[in-house]
Amino acid sequence: MKFLPSVHLPCHPWMAMVILPLLLLLVPLAAAQWSSCSKSDDYKSNSTYVANLSLLSSTLPKKAASSTTLFATSIMGNFPDIVYALTLCRGDSNASACESRVTTAFQDLLRLCPYKKNAAVYYDPCMLKFSNKNFLATTTVNDPLFIVNTKNFTTNADITQRLLFTLINSMAQLAANSLRRFTTSRLDVGSSPTLYCLMQCMPDLIPHDCESCFQDILNSTLEYLGGKQGGRVLGTRCYMRYEMYPFFQGDPKLRIINLAPHVPTINNTTTPATVYPQSQPPDAAPPPEGKVTVQEHNGM
Ligand SMILES: *[C@@H]1O[C@H](CO)[C@@H](O)[C@H](O)[C@H]1NC(C)=O
Ligand SMILES: *[C@@H]1O[C@H](CO)[C@@H](O)[C@H](O)[C@H]1NC(C)=O
Ligand SMILES: *[C@@H]1O[C@H](CO)[C@@H](O)[C@H](O)[C@H]1NC(C)=O
Ligand SMILES: *[C@@H]1O[C@H](CO)[C@@H](O)[C@H](O)[C@H]1NC(C)=O
Ligand SMILES: *[C@@H]1O[C@H](CO)[C@@H](O)[C@H](O)[C@H]1NC(C)=O
Ligand SMILES: *[C@@H]1O[C@H](CO)[C@@H](O)[C@H](O)[C@H]1NC(C)=O
Ligand SMILES: *[C@@H]1O[C@H](CO)[C@@H](O)[C@H](O)[C@H]1NC(C)=O
Repeated sequence: MKFLPSVHLPCHPWMAMVILPLLLLLVPLAAAQWSSCSKSDDYKSNSTYVANLSLLSSTLPKKAASSTTLFATSIMGNFPDIVYALTLCRGDSNASACESRVTTAFQDLLRLCPYKKNAAVYYDPCMLKFSNKNFLATTTVNDPLFIVNTKNFTTNADITQRLLFTLINSMAQLAANSLRRFTTSRLDVGSSPTLYCLMQCMPDLIPHDCESCFQDILNSTLEYLGGKQGGRVLGTRCYMRYEMYPFFQGDPKLRIINLAPHVPTINNTTTPATVYPQSQPPDAAPPPEGKVTVQEHNGM
């Protein structure tokens, strides 16, 4: 498991000085991105692997955008140059945004993980992973990245663990049983901080596997994100983000109004982890309070 800061890629300071003002003119919002590249398994610039990857990059964005769940997987080529790929746009995204984001994601990944056969990149609106190994059939959260807000809750540790447990536990079933394996929530309980949360599985997971993927996320959230005012667990098969401000499109689908009475003991993962702080401040101005209309849940 890895923890990454939400900072952008290192780049020469003078380049930043020259390029940044141009970028600001072109794109209104700089997109946060996190990537993970294999350390070994390199391909050559003239290899069949590249040729197959390039074929994928020209077909996968359209395939995702034309699916009702904005999700696509693909397998290209033959061993040893076979490429497996998977992409998902967030449940509150739309087809046109999805196609252009996934197209950009391919370009970014070739730059972020040059000559690496295994690479993944996560943005807020979408994720993309490709590999020479078949990860498409896995059902676990699968080598997640943890993006951790450095700010701590001011409430005590017991309450914050209950807040996080309640969020994930309340949303898992609803998300797992929805068509897009996606849901959002707002948690409002007494004097505790209001929290917003988004959870999504890859739509090809059956509800049972999706729920167990969320169980992995629950365990690692309690272990690694406890006490933090915001965070993301970004996995190949499911992911989760929570913040103290709304960060998704549309009203929360679930309103959570009671805290779970206690948090069951969880088995911590044995993988050691390094924590990188999140240096990114919350979105410039928190949007207005999300209205809550759809469903109530009492967090038990
Ligand atoms: C690919 O490039 C390598 C050097 O980068 C070269 O040795 C090899 O002959 C090239 N292969 C083809 C098929 O062009
Ligand atoms: C993979 O790339 C090679 C080299 O360009 C090509 O011959 C082959 O047809 C590609 N595989 C598929 C499934 O398109
Ligand atoms: C799709 O989403 C993008 C980004 O959120 C937005 O700018 C655009 O208006 C949306 N398009 C449609 C057709 O809803
Ligand atoms: C948050 O809590 C952690 C662990 O309790 C501590 O190491 C860290 O300094 C705290 N961060 C801030 C910004 O207070
Ligand atoms: C699990 O990890 C958390 C956070 O590091 C720690 O507070 C807790 O005591 C651990 N639980 C067990 C059973 O080791
Ligand atoms: C999460 O914790 C539960 C309860 O201890 C345990 O049954 C489950 O195996 C754990 N999952 C992982 C992936 O560690
Ligand atoms: C927690 O881990 C221990 C040791 O690996 C194992 O014996 C126990 O069954 C696990 N508990 C749960 C609830 O998974």
